[in-house]
Amino acid sequence: MCANVVVVGAGTMGPGIAQVYATGGNKVTLTDIKEDILQQAKEKIKTSLANFVQHGVLSQNEADSIFARITYSLDNESAAKTCDFMIEAVPEKLDIKHQIFTLYDKYAPEHAILASNTSGIPIREIARVTGRRSNVLGIHFYNPAQLNRLVEIIRTNDTSDATVETSKQMLIKCGKKPVIIADIPGFLHNRLIYALLREAVSLVEQGLTTVEDIDTVVREAFGPRFSVLGLFKLVDIVGIDIYYSVSSYLNKELSNANTASQWIKSKIDNNELGIKTGKGFYVWSEEEKKKILTELSARMLQLLKEKG
Ligand SMILES: NC(=O)c1ccc[n+]([C@@H]2O[C@H](COP(=O)([O-])OP(=O)(O)OC[C@H]3O[C@@H](n4cnc5c(N)ncnc54)[C@H](O)[C@@H]3O)[C@@H](O)[C@H]2O)c1
Repeated sequence: MCANVVVVGAGTMGPGIAQVYATGGNKVTLTDIKEDILQQAKEKIKTSLANFVQHGVLSQNEADSIFARITYSLDNESAAKTCDFMIEAVPEKLDIKHQIFTLYDKYAPEHAILASNTSGIPIREIARVTGRRSNVLGIHFYNPAQLNRLVEIIRTNDTSDATVETSKQMLIKCGKKPVIIADIPGFLHNRLIYALLREAVSLVEQGLTTVEDIDTVVREAFGPRFSVLGLFKLVDIVGIDIYYSVSSYLNKELSNANTASQWIKSKIDNNELGIKTGKGFYVWSEEEKKKILTELSARMLQLLKEKG
């Protein structure tokens, strides 16, 4: 099924999300409140599609059709009236999300699905200003949306099965790998990554190992294996009996910190925020910054091409 999709907010996330839905054959309207942001979004989409063509992920014809399916608008009210599916990527503030959901609830056709790309606001909090809670859900893309295949679908107690299924099928048609999770803090991906980071940060903070050695373990051992197997398939290969006996003594040794780390706080106090300030856990020259980001994007495009 192809739909009229509206992506609200053309800042960091919106252009990538618009590209994704246009890739699935949908007609997409990308809206913002600023004309210059819309112009920049159009350029970003053009550059991104050229990158996909350059890496052989799309043909020039496919890229041209995707580009032609996206229009740009400052008028949410008109966009709402013909939409089947809306996803917002406006700033992470509940009052702004509420404005958008109130407007789309008022003007969009009754069947329209309303989604939020929020990183952390509970979806039920966003949905409560609408009269169609069964048609509201979270659809959480990772940045950049056009390169990351994982998308989390967040369903509240009110979200209907039909809303989840339609949203899931639309994402699959766009080449994404959706997963479904209840409306809980951190959704799915971040709960896993923060569980791992809690242990990693604790080990370094206690002086038991180094940042570099932890990154070596991730890159050389479970990173490659996880990318083939996932987590539970890996345990199946290792043996559930082994996992049980190791976890019976190891679980109690693991960090159970329930506050943020003082070591990380000191980094923030020293403006060591990572790539954006030139120093985080590592020191980043302009050249290294550019190199790693180019390498990462090329690797992700390669994965998109390999896995189709
Ligand atoms: N940046 C990320 O890495 C990332 C990743 C996943 C999810 N998110 C979530 O996605 C959402 C958007 O994040 P972002 O980083 O793209 O924000 P952003 O600030 O870069 O962009 C938001 C855009 O929304 C526009 N906007 C504001 N009010 C509007 C309105 N009424 N109608 C249309 N447009 C409007 C702004 O002009 C701006 O261009 C947030 O909820 C954020 O938490 C962000």
